Amino acid sequence: MNGAVTPPRARHIVLLGPPGAGKGTQAGTLAKELGYAHLSTGDLLRSEVAAGTPLGRAADGYMRAGQLVPDELVLEILRGRLRRPDAEAGFLLDGFPRTLAQAAEIERWTPIELVISFEIERTQLIARLAGRRICPRCGAVYHLDAHPPREPGRCDRDGTELVQRPDDRPEAIEVRLRVYAEATEPLLGFYRDRGVLRGLDASGSPAEVAVRFRRLVEPGGTP
Ligand code: AP5
Repeated sequence: MNGAVTPPRARHIVLLGPPGAGKGTQAGTLAKELGYAHLSTGDLLRSEVAAGTPLGRAADGYMRAGQLVPDELVLEILRGRLRRPDAEAGFLLDGFPRTLAQAAEIERWTPIELVISFEIERTQLIARLAGRRICPRCGAVYHLDAHPPREPGRCDRDGTELVQRPDDRPEAIEVRLRVYAEATEPLLGFYRDRGVLRGLDASGSPAEVAVRFRRLVEPGGTP
């Protein structure tokens, strides 16, 4: 025993990174392993859109165009989700915060202990987004090359015909990448200043990224 104390595993983790970097893919798996909630504001908003709620109707146009949904709508939906009991053990926040105003607001609600920045080249992002297909019924995510369904075009879980997300069209992808650079990249400095930012090399296969990702969230994990 050298008397060193291993810090506890972070319970409140933010995943930052451009569209298509693989945040959702990694968060889904790791959240299950850790017993944490996977809180994706994109998924929450898409559920509202699918259900045709007033919030969903207000968000739909922004999402299709690749623009950010106004802060007050996103904060409303996330505040409600954080109150659910499954977020008490810990959470992985995927796609939030995306603006400095959102980052400042969540600091008022709860401390953020670890921020993982997914780093990857633009050409790989575009290939991941262009090849993504999703199940409109259960939300499962596939990729035509990296993670194809067993039967082409059909969801493995429920057989539903897979679709392309409206914001994965080339013109919306361009907007999303620009919006990320303008509105979300400044958060890297915000969290670096707080000493909680860690970079993750998000290139390579999902399994390779998962190994590096897990290492970062281990207690005492290092970049
Ligand atoms: P959101 O759903 O959050 O989209 P995003 O951040 O643009 O992220 P993506 O879902 O596109 O990518 P990802 O990094 O999760 O990648 P994935 O794992 O799926 O937001 C959508 C919209 O909602 C926004 O544009 C905005 O309008 C609104 N919104 C959401 N949150 C908001 C907020 N906080 N404020 C305001 N507006 C908000 O992977 C992508 C593909 O690549 C998949 O096909 C996957 O199978 C594949 N893949 C994953 N990993 C690998 C790998 N290692 N190798 C090869 N392929 C891989």
